[in-house]
Amino acid sequence: MLEIADVHAYYGDSHVLHGVSLHVAAGEAVALLGRNGAGKTTLIRSVVGFTPPRAGRISFDGRPIEGRTAYAIARLGIGLVPQGRRIFAPLSVSENLMLGARKPTARQGTRQFTRERAYELFPRLRERALQGGGTLSGGEQQMLAVARALMTNPHLLLLDEPSEGLAPLIVREIGRVLIGLKQQGLSILLVEQNVPLALRVADRVYVMNKGQIVYEGSSAALAADEDVKRRFLGVS
Ligand SMILES: Nc1ncnc2c1ncn2[C@@H]1O[C@H](COP(=O)(O)OP(=O)(O)OP(=O)(O)O)[C@@H](O)[C@H]1O
Ligand SMILES: [Mg+2]
Repeated sequence: MLEIADVHAYYGDSHVLHGVSLHVAAGEAVALLGRNGAGKTTLIRSVVGFTPPRAGRISFDGRPIEGRTAYAIARLGIGLVPQGRRIFAPLSVSENLMLGARKPTARQGTRQFTRERAYELFPRLRERALQGGGTLSGGEQQMLAVARALMTNPHLLLLDEPSEGLAPLIVREIGRVLIGLKQQGLSILLVEQNVPLALRVADRVYVMNKGQIVYEGSSAALAADEDVKRRFLGVS
């Protein structure tokens, strides 16, 4: 579904991604792990068109997307939960949800997202439907960011560190929701530093370090690989 091949990305003269290759098959949940500054967000930005790659190829559903505008890429069915949530503070919860709303395509099957479904998934958002987005707690903002991305009825959901700064209970709730979405057949690319969350949600895992993929394997294989976890993820 998503195929990233030998991508190089830069900020000005600064070479950040050094030949990254990664893929997500239809219906698969894949995690991308790595420390601060590894290049995870830059890779996401390359996929969605904010930082187009200077070399390499990115295709979605077999169509090349590198060089297309962010708007065009989103319309193909890639939903993004950005790092830091980016909730529109002056707008209500309900208005934040409707901002990105798009009609589901036939391909969505039973996985059709409406505001009602979003409220079923996150009952707290229904209770706060008219509350300003900026007044939500961090956990509620993250739920809103996930729900807002789902309202675009994506075929592939990208999440950039959804657990960042959240209490363990909220992280578990986000994990539960992501596992549910995967079971409904949604393809997921989850960027994380929270290794237990990533291993719980993902079928396969990539580890990035200094702009390169340094490990690729099943979640079970990474769970058992103390050396990789210690060297690249700071897990002891
Ligand atoms: N807008 C920018 N201009 C210049 N350099 C940048 C910019 N954004 C990121 N970088 C640099 O690119 C490198 C990779 O950053 P990136 O944000 O992709 O890392 P990350 O893996 O997402 O880290 P984190 O886990 O902290 O979010 C870092 O060295 C960072 O300083
Ligand atoms: Mg980042």
